[in-house]
Amino acid sequence: MDNFAGGTAVPETELDAADVEVPAPLLPVAELHLHIEGTLQPELIFALAERNGIELPYSSLDELRERYEFTDLQSFLDLYYANMAVLQTEEDFAAMTHAYLERAAAAGVRHAEIMMDPQAHLARGIPLETCVNGVASVLATSQEDFGISTLLIAAFLRDLPEDSALEVLDGLLAMDAPIAAIGLDSAEVGNPPSKFERLYAKAREAGLRLTAHAGEEGPASYIIEALDILSVERIDHGIRCMEDPDLVERLVDARIPLTVCPLSNVRLRAVDTLADHPLPAMLAAGLNVSVNSDDPAYFGGYVDDNFAQLIAEFQLSDFDRARLAANSIHSSFASEERKAELLNELNGGEATDS
Ligand code: ADE
Ligand code: ZN
Repeated sequence: MDNFAGGTAVPETELDAADVEVPAPLLPVAELHLHIEGTLQPELIFALAERNGIELPYSSLDELRERYEFTDLQSFLDLYYANMAVLQTEEDFAAMTHAYLERAAAAGVRHAEIMMDPQAHLARGIPLETCVNGVASVLATSQEDFGISTLLIAAFLRDLPEDSALEVLDGLLAMDAPIAAIGLDSAEVGNPPSKFERLYAKAREAGLRLTAHAGEEGPASYIIEALDILSVERIDHGIRCMEDPDLVERLVDARIPLTVCPLSNVRLRAVDTLADHPLPAMLAAGLNVSVNSDDPAYFGGYVDDNFAQLIAEFQLSDFDRARLAANSIHSSFASEERKAELLNELNGGEATDS
């Protein structure tokens, strides 16, 4: 490659296109699958631990980072729940949310649907008000502050009994928490969607939107249960649908959104490498897939990193990138007006921040 050092201008004709890496421009996207607790970066974990006088079981950032080698979902969840210990006050939850939105804005995120795990905080003695109000206080002005419209999803831990989830949902409704939807996360295998039929019926009656993790580590039949028994509108992950052609056909016909998280799937060993990821096959099948970061602080990247690695691995066409971005917007729980603004922006129109 020609040497650019010293500011010597190189005539355009001498550039070999194959030598020049032009990063793909960021597209405006909606992030639909994001756990706010999974955005806690190591530096913030240490800062909050110090502020709250909490002793961490790691003596340095490097020692903490060494633990980010996961063998499966549970090995990640163990660290994810342990690190939540540093979240004690509303200010802590607000600082975490602020940091995510700042980084997400730089990643091209223009609308974010943010999951939080209230039961994980209640189990540590943190009141519902502390975690909900801390996150919600930052979301309330996210559009003015970051150009990102947001909404909050209360996610329930599927490895706990349904009665616990029902009690927490009651608490959220009683405090009039600003939640738009419920989700279902944590250890999937052995905790099928059918375990939460009453929870989803209650949330639906309360006017909440419905999504659930299914088909991440669990079988395709969990996706079917989530649709048939919980009546979810969206599936988080859903990659294992590819094992059931009839299910793929159903998902395509009904345009059911699948919020796919490629780097998460690699780091949690749902797939061996990114090259083995089913995303290109899912697109080819006509599935309504979007690209999301899941727990970006743990999995090596935000939405822009997920896109960049997909583009590098699969040479995703501009058409497919735009399709993924459009899918994310169409699949969101945003108002029709906000969706129209974002689609207009995706099509080259001006950004609308307020
Ligand atoms: N909680 C946080 N991230 C999760 C994931 N990828 N799957 C299930 N539960 C989670
Ligand atoms: Zn997730």
